[in-house]
Amino acid sequence: MKKHLYILFLLSVLFPVYGRSQQIAEQKIETVLSKMTIRERIGQLNQLDGRGIHGTVEQLKELVRKGEVGSLMNITDPKVINQLQEAACKESRTKVPLIFTRDVVHGFKTMLPIPLGQAATFNPDLIKEGARIAAIEATEHGIRWSFAPMIDISRDARWGRIAESFGEDSYLTGKMAVAVVKGFQGEDLSHPQSMAACLKHFIGYGAAEGGRDYNSTYIPERQLREVYLPPFKQAIEAGSASIMTSFNDNDGIPATGNKNLLRDMLRKEWEFDGVTLSDWGSVTEMIKHGFAQDRKHAAEIAINAGLDVEMSSKSFIQNLEKLIAEGKVPESVLNDAVRNVLRLKYKLGLFEQPYTDIHKPTETYSAKHLAVAKKVAEESVVLLKNDNKTLPLSSNIKSILITGPLADASHDQLGTWTMDGETDKTQTPAKAVASMYGDKVKIHFMPGLTYSRDKNQSSFDEVLRIAHSVDAIVVFVGEEAILTGEAHSLAGLNLQGAQSELIKQLKATRKPLVTVVMAGRPLTIGREIEQSDAVLYAWHPGTMGGPAIADMLFGKAIPVGKLPVTFPKGVGQIPIYYNHTNTGRPAKGNEKSIDEIPLNAKQSVLGHSSYYLDIGSKPLYPFGYGLSYTTFEYTDLKIDKTKLNKNDTLSVSLKIKNTGEYKGTEVVQLYITDIVGSVTRPVKELKGFERLELKAGEINTIHFNLPVSDLAFWNIDMKKTVEPGKFKVMVGTNSETGLEANFEVE
Ligand code: NOJ
Repeated sequence: MKKHLYILFLLSVLFPVYGRSQQIAEQKIETVLSKMTIRERIGQLNQLDGRGIHGTVEQLKELVRKGEVGSLMNITDPKVINQLQEAACKESRTKVPLIFTRDVVHGFKTMLPIPLGQAATFNPDLIKEGARIAAIEATEHGIRWSFAPMIDISRDARWGRIAESFGEDSYLTGKMAVAVVKGFQGEDLSHPQSMAACLKHFIGYGAAEGGRDYNSTYIPERQLREVYLPPFKQAIEAGSASIMTSFNDNDGIPATGNKNLLRDMLRKEWEFDGVTLSDWGSVTEMIKHGFAQDRKHAAEIAINAGLDVEMSSKSFIQNLEKLIAEGKVPESVLNDAVRNVLRLKYKLGLFEQPYTDIHKPTETYSAKHLAVAKKVAEESVVLLKNDNKTLPLSSNIKSILITGPLADASHDQLGTWTMDGETDKTQTPAKAVASMYGDKVKIHFMPGLTYSRDKNQSSFDEVLRIAHSVDAIVVFVGEEAILTGEAHSLAGLNLQGAQSELIKQLKATRKPLVTVVMAGRPLTIGREIEQSDAVLYAWHPGTMGGPAIADMLFGKAIPVGKLPVTFPKGVGQIPIYYNHTNTGRPAKGNEKSIDEIPLNAKQSVLGHSSYYLDIGSKPLYPFGYGLSYTTFEYTDLKIDKTKLNKNDTLSVSLKIKNTGEYKGTEVVQLYITDIVGSVTRPVKELKGFERLELKAGEINTIHFNLPVSDLAFWNIDMKKTVEPGKFKVMVGTNSETGLEANFEVE
């Protein structure tokens, strides 16, 4: 018996109702499939764009009637969607409904912070809520399939798409991936407010050489399995309905034509029964890669490798009939791909209810949605520095200057991939501070620069004149949305334009200087941070960024965010990430600075360790870093056993005290180190995090349970195993600082 039929059989024995409905669905799929011509079947694998590039709506309707298209992208008018759906369900021979798709990456209309900012919340429950509101808004516009979450591990801030990712760590990314899948898909995919998730990009896209988008990657199997694949596997286990192949070739094989990946791993090893989808044109881009001779060859490679749906490049619809007739693509391969698409349509309930209810009251931009967006924005902000308790602004401050090009940038604060976000709904910090706190503090606003790359300093004199007259300055710097995202890589990560000069001149006023950074990536802003008294890193915070930041400046919200990615001091340190392996000569941390190197020194005086002479080995800020307005003290780390066997669970507890003056929430992080392995192991790995809210002065105990099975890794024989030996556990406030204990696995 085929494996999936066997599983169905087992499920039907164990859970009769579940098994029956699955069986009925599979039977229905077979019935529909058996009535389709080859061309109609191929049509199911053809995904076209609805914005005009593949024809007018009338032309698309004609294709739909002929059964030549299975899903349509980028149409957001539910009336048009319903018309096209009617063409499919009433006017086509097969009556198979369409699916309408969109990149709903961080919100639909109510924009949440960019995913990198969402990751900084370390709050999967909240991110799930954010994904839910995105699904509610998108589905009421007819979208039932989103191309998100993007879960590429991203360790290179030059890569513009780091903004779309959850950062450098597989564990955190896995948690966020599952949260988004659950938020999008809800309890039941067939509910009209549920939207299919699409995990992307499979695989390794974030490792683009040099951080240049679309570039080749060279990720060996162990690293793939340890670092890049786990979030995908976890999100598939959480029920993700689909997965998108990536643009890059890894070790010479473009992902869209990689049979090992799409068939052996995804289908056989992981038993994925959802849809695999190409990225935009990534089937025919195999020609440019030098992997396919022409469009026909590209189609043959892709479908045989295990790709179901081709996005936008039409080589399937143009060539598959011929390829099947020539025996180059078995008909069974086509049928399996079509089954996957029909299964998704069934799961979405589209055979029963294909239309979008346009009379239902809209929830888009509801007060609840705006409140969730504000909460996510608040929790995403990372406090990097707060000298002299500059923040929150004290009640003695009676006047402030708000300046900088990002203070009132309604387009840019929404970030990349905001296809449906509307700038007139954006609440900027300049406006929010004025409307929320204008009765308490006199607010002056003058941007100084009109956009992040602006070099025109002609209004600096006026800005400085005001700066001298106020009690505190809040400067909003960063980068425009267009400098981040797809195809927007940068070779340098300094502030653009005259922003650094603005900060330097503001610093010279000696007024308390708060810098708020809105950016899609870590920027190399060590010098600007030195010049500032307090720094909030707010990413691109979305529609409600303004009110979130306003409340944070005035202490109504307390920072809780932690960095989901290591901040380099300079671009030359990239790649830099916390869970690297050790060299045989690790940096000692006490290296001389470049200016201390003696003249005419002998080759060996610097000690032969692994660091940069000019910039050292340490990052600007480590992964997991983030301050609060209050302070936390960690004591009494206890573990319940020091010797464990492979089936045990280590129980870890410690006390945390709020030693400051504000109520606050701490994200407590648990890392482990496997001291010796059959292959070298990361110096540290995140294995858990918990949030703890404490009132000023309050003390509480926090517990972690760490199953020994979580210590498994892909060993020398490429088997996932827990190896006996010594381990260290560290619990702390970031990846560099914490309390430690040792244990052994026997
Ligand atoms: C290309 C991007 O790589 C992918 O993430 C996106 O979903 C598609 N375009 C569709 O817009």
